[in-house]
Amino acid sequence: MLVIRVGEIELAGQKCRIRPVVPGDVLRVYEIESNVFGDDKFDIMLLRDLITNSLIFVVLEDAQANIIVGFCILLEIDSVEARASGDYDPNVEPAAHLVNIALDEAYRYHGWGKTLMQYCLEILRERGFRRVQLEVNVANAPAAALYQGLGFRRVKFLPNYYQSGSNAYRMEKFLHGTGELENA
Ligand SMILES: CC(C)(COP(=O)(O)OP(=O)(O)OC[C@H]1O[C@@H](n2cnc3c(N)ncnc32)[C@H](O)[C@@H]1OP(=O)(O)O)[C@@H](O)C(=O)NCCC(=O)NCCS
Repeated sequence: MLVIRVGEIELAGQKCRIRPVVPGDVLRVYEIESNVFGDDKFDIMLLRDLITNSLIFVVLEDAQANIIVGFCILLEIDSVEARASGDYDPNVEPAAHLVNIALDEAYRYHGWGKTLMQYCLEILRERGFRRVQLEVNVANAPAAALYQGLGFRRVKFLPNYYQSGSNAYRMEKFLHGTGELENA
């Protein structure tokens, strides 16, 4: 598991904290996942597996109330699978996949989601990752705006991508090897 810095950040007058997930967080993470994604949610076994095996799995806490209010999960893209699917460019490897990001509804739109994403992108950059991919529901304007603001660009339309039958866009961002994150 990756070692991640823990620190408090003040945003919109409230203090939040980002820290690595621990197995005891699974029920609260599942609660947020269920509230946010409904029928498209990850089941609890998958979340347990991701807690153990993810490249990055961090939780966002309200530092005053001391509760988890969001999380972000990234996996490394397997280069063998990427080659097989034609999604491989040796000039921008290794690559990571944003599996999920979600905030409790009461904590949205105060800059915390953006801070969480920037934190994870910075860790990826420090670890030498060159590319990040994600999928976003075509109807999810807030998330798409967040990603676009951080420099992600649409690369593919994915029909019927979600269990519910909804369509998605694949988005991608390249990370600089040194210095500031591109557009972030
Ligand atoms: C997507 C999500 C993580 C964003 O977190 P957030 O804390 O609400 O977002 P922030 O306040 O940090 O805003 C970041 C950017 O998102 C966009 N955004 C935020 N609220 C928005 C809204 N109501 N409408 C449109 N864009 C919005 C803006 O571009 C904003 O950047 P700016 O403030 O520089 O203009 C959060 O809304 C969420 O958990 N949504 C439900 C789960 C989800 O859809 N996850 C993504 C799956 S692909």
